[in-house]
Amino acid sequence: MKEILAQLERKRANARLGGGQKRIDSQHARGKLTARERIEVLLDEGSFEEYDMFVEHRATEFGMAEQRVPGDGVVTGWGTVNGRKVFVFSQDFTVFGGSLSETHARKICKIMDMAVQVGAPVIGLNDSGGARIQEGVDSLGGYADVFLRNVLASGCVPQISVIMGPCAGGAVYSPAMTDFIFMVRDTSYMFVTGPDVVKTVTGEIITHEELGGASTHTAKSSVADGAYDNDVVALKEIRRLIDFLPSSSREKPPRWPAQDDPLRTDVSLDTLVPDSPNKPYDMKELILKVVDEGDFFEIQEAYARNIITGFGRIEGSTVGFVANQPMVLAGCLDINASRKAARFVRFCDCFNIPIVTFVDVPGFLPGTAQEYGGLIKQGAKLLFAYAEATVPKVTVITRKAYGGAYDVMASKHIRADVNYAWPTAQIAVMGAKGAVEIIFREDIGDKEKIARRTAEYEARFANPFIAAERGFIDEVILPHSTRRRIARALEMLATKRQDLPPKKHDNIPL
Ligand code: HXC
Repeated sequence: MKEILAQLERKRANARLGGGQKRIDSQHARGKLTARERIEVLLDEGSFEEYDMFVEHRATEFGMAEQRVPGDGVVTGWGTVNGRKVFVFSQDFTVFGGSLSETHARKICKIMDMAVQVGAPVIGLNDSGGARIQEGVDSLGGYADVFLRNVLASGCVPQISVIMGPCAGGAVYSPAMTDFIFMVRDTSYMFVTGPDVVKTVTGEIITHEELGGASTHTAKSSVADGAYDNDVVALKEIRRLIDFLPSSSREKPPRWPAQDDPLRTDVSLDTLVPDSPNKPYDMKELILKVVDEGDFFEIQEAYARNIITGFGRIEGSTVGFVANQPMVLAGCLDINASRKAARFVRFCDCFNIPIVTFVDVPGFLPGTAQEYGGLIKQGAKLLFAYAEATVPKVTVITRKAYGGAYDVMASKHIRADVNYAWPTAQIAVMGAKGAVEIIFREDIGDKEKIARRTAEYEARFANPFIAAERGFIDEVILPHSTRRRIARALEMLATKRQDLPPKKHDNIPL
């Protein structure tokens, strides 16, 4: 018996060595952790339950019969993050470059199926040379099996991808269908076709980093939701993100013990909005002053910075924040901001996360680049996402809410539940100057008349009270009481139930 136990330990130790010490050293030399080290950082100590440690591929061609490594290039199982269950796969670059074989895919599918059944997030740590070249179509089939599960799991359990090495070719489409993608700076890249193919087809000469590195995907393409300096920081931040998310669509977000008084007021907010309507201010300051302990997990921080999206907590429970940022493009809505916020709103709605919207929006960005890029349909995404969302929605207009953008930014008309405005709010079809130049075009030469008309228009419309008279704004609130008002609104809405008409699914403009 003792010998049998010792044999198991030897087999385990051998499997844990993956592709061998030399390849582990080379992984470390690149500043990367191994697949197992990453899991150790990600999960609570000692919580990992590994499955399929002894799975081996069954390929025989190209000398593969002689090259078998237990585990087949991916470590899979489940564990906990601050006591809450998560499923994990971590590709092992030391084994055939982490490439995906039929059996490697089957291991991933097994834990994805379990995750959906038990209702727990799936975290994929990607570090792979792509399809196992020696296996041909078996590998491609394996990828498609994973893709299908990504789609079926979408909206059931949160799926998070961390790109920690190469991720190229069709392999990118599994992360692409998960809820969030995070990258590690300098050691990870993602592209459909690499620099060599790009050079052959288009003649462009470009590096891996420029084509598909972290800065490209966080700032230019918006494929990635965030980037971190190294493996350890990335994995610690994923733990932080998991703390914000419910385990599945069947659950509410977790509620953590909170020290921060929900009724706390902040008088500095009374002077946040400058006297001049054209002067910017930092909307992030409002978010940080409203959330518990100033703890805010921003999503897509480097992209479309004219809108802010991210998770915070009120009374210990997760809230999704969407806020126009007057510091960038005056906070207007453009294609990128609309897409960014729409996806975030839909994530929150999938997972029962209430949405708080801070509005200071002068309208949609004008111009041919925007129109040719389909601003109509892209802006409609955000309108659609807000309108279909049935989670509690609380809106606070701090300053401008002009034109169509007023409707889009979680207005009462598209089923926001509680709509507040600060006394500095201006809810109108457009700014006073533009409005007067249109309706009093004949007076344009007469500066005095125009100034008088502008002042008249401002006095009449540049305030929240007409909207409040109609009930489109439930209450005009004092800025310093914003956290308290939101906390109370969310408390009231905690038992909200709202259903959509029966349908197979909607047809959001894509
Ligand atoms: C089998 C692979 C492999 C692969 C790497 N290896 N990629 N084995 N299938 N796809 C092996 C190498 O042979 C090597 O084995 C080890 O992994 C490490 O690879 P290196 O090349 O030494 O590492 P590095 O220099 O860091 O380069 C990493 C790399 C490169 C850029 C990923 O290996 C590479 O270009 N690989 C091929 C990528 C590719 O074309 N994949 C198929 C794409 S198509 P040893 O034994 O020497 O350690 C695809 C389609 C998906 O993925 C379709 C989904 C629908």
